[in-house]
Amino acid sequence: MSKPVLPKDGNGCPYLQLAPMEGVGDPAFRKTMAAVGGFDEAVTAFIRVPENAHVQSLAKRYQSNEIAPIPLAAQIMGSDPDLMAAMGQELAQRGALRIDVNCGCPSNIVNRRGAGSVLLKNPDLLFKVVNAVVKAVAIPVTIKMRSGFDDTSLFFENLSAAAASGIQYITLHPRTKSDGYRRPARWDLIAAAKEFLKIPVVGNGDIRNVADALKMLQNTGCDGLMIGRGIVMNPFLFLQIRSHFSGTAFQPVWEDLIRYFRVYISKLADDLSPKQRVNKVKQLLALYCNSSEHLLHKRPEILAAQHTDPDEFFAFVQTCLNVYESGANRD
Ligand SMILES: Cc1cc2nc3c(=O)[nH]c(=O)nc-3n(C[C@H](O)[C@H](O)[C@H](O)COP(=O)(O)O)c2cc1C
Repeated sequence: MSKPVLPKDGNGCPYLQLAPMEGVGDPAFRKTMAAVGGFDEAVTAFIRVPENAHVQSLAKRYQSNEIAPIPLAAQIMGSDPDLMAAMGQELAQRGALRIDVNCGCPSNIVNRRGAGSVLLKNPDLLFKVVNAVVKAVAIPVTIKMRSGFDDTSLFFENLSAAAASGIQYITLHPRTKSDGYRRPARWDLIAAAKEFLKIPVVGNGDIRNVADALKMLQNTGCDGLMIGRGIVMNPFLFLQIRSHFSGTAFQPVWEDLIRYFRVYISKLADDLSPKQRVNKVKQLLALYCNSSEHLLHKRPEILAAQHTDPDEFFAFVQTCLNVYESGANRD
């Protein structure tokens, strides 16, 4: 029997993926998450393939062994089928195990240039772009899409176009471009995609704790889970989901969090000053603070801190958060 595309672990835990997150999900973040563990695969933030792109130079941004042995898929975004195909080939030559085509980026600048979620307005073009990549490479190609541009009227046309292009699976973030992040993700559309398609579907959107992960699996029947913001808010969520399936509870303590931030600092580029390092940690903490009312309340104080020494900053943050003692981050 052939191996499933998105295999479960020995305890029945579904395939878990770290979402692409431009700006936040940089190599330092991915390497830190690899040190924490718990997920099966990660995807880079989009590599934009504009008109006249020099694909050889662009492809150098991708390091296939960045978080080895965890596989790292390369995400590309553009609308010129030939250039996208050339980019796919270049990345495959650099060792990419999978190419993911971005059909979800809501940025107006990107959309005006015909890429990202605007492809969802034109299923024929979506097919041409993705099919060109599929035909150009021997490795699997997937897409990550939103549920539509202005609305979901072309949802099933887009699913059909994607499936016909020869991709291996779809990752669905079920919000339209117009929704932004305002409305909750429509998990019913993940269930609809799963019912409609023969290829696997990875569910994405608004998983913030173990209960959400279980609910998405149960309500949609999806084949794998992708998590973005929920991991920034709780870097131990993958481990907690996996522990749930193995029947061993995992509750992080403050030392785990501080270790996580220390690893993150150590993975940042060498040329950053101590202050810049603290600022990068603040960027993650700003999102982390969304995980509870208690932390949200403390966020302004943390962001305003003037420490440049990471140790002093962490000591300050601990007094501010007192997070695990208060149980604020439990699911
Ligand atoms: C800061 C940020 C950057 C993102 N960058 C990308 C990206 O480069 N490519 C992509 O496909 N999705 C990107 N996304 C969307 C996420 O991958 C994901 O689909 C979305 O946040 C919903 O999942 P979540 O609720 O688990 O975060 C980004 C999201 C955020 C918050």
